[in-house]
Amino acid sequence: MHGDMERVLITEEEIARRVRELGEEISRDYAGKELLVVGILKGAVIFMADLVRCLTIPVRLDFMAVSSYGASSESSGVVRILKDLEQNIEGLDVLIVEDIVDTGLTLNYLRENLLTRGPASLKICTLLDKPSRRKVDVQVDYNGFVIPDEFVVGYGLDYDGRYRHLRDILVLKREVYSGKKEGDN
Ligand code: PRP
Ligand code: MN
Ligand code: MG
Repeated sequence: MHGDMERVLITEEEIARRVRELGEEISRDYAGKELLVVGILKGAVIFMADLVRCLTIPVRLDFMAVSSYGASSESSGVVRILKDLEQNIEGLDVLIVEDIVDTGLTLNYLRENLLTRGPASLKICTLLDKPSRRKVDVQVDYNGFVIPDEFVVGYGLDYDGRYRHLRDILVLKREVYSGKKEGDN
């Protein structure tokens, strides 16, 4: 295990098994349809890459990048689009793929924003759900794991841009991030 890590929370094998299950469930639900999968950069990329290869329906991919505004972002809920979709989603079946729902502000914003564009349907798939941190209600349609309120990295999730490439989901040692002020991530 990486020296900055406290422990493994979810192993590579557990993730792979759950991702396959999600892929089967999504493929069943969208049988006969084509799905536009929207990955939210950067955290979702690893999960998205694995998930879409477990789908047995026709799929297209697109990406968005968003950023929360400044230090008060968590309470304000203001989200800025850094990179928008490349296609018009009107009339399409759209699935947002995220790595984690924390406060819910990011997904709440994305959901409202994409709904204004008139998709045929819009659903949300997240690998991790940390309900203890929720500030706004978000209806998640597909969820991999509910996790406790710990600082997790790996499988796409970062601390200060690092550790996204690690294959397990791990709890970061407190000493690695304790120098930072509250709310940083
Ligand atoms: C993280 C994570 C989600 C979001 C969840 O992204 O990947 O997108 O925060 O937090 P919320 O529910 O409180 O809104 P981050 O902003 O760290 O960007 P990243 O994906 O590039 O790491
Ligand atoms: Mn993210
Ligand atoms: Mg991040």
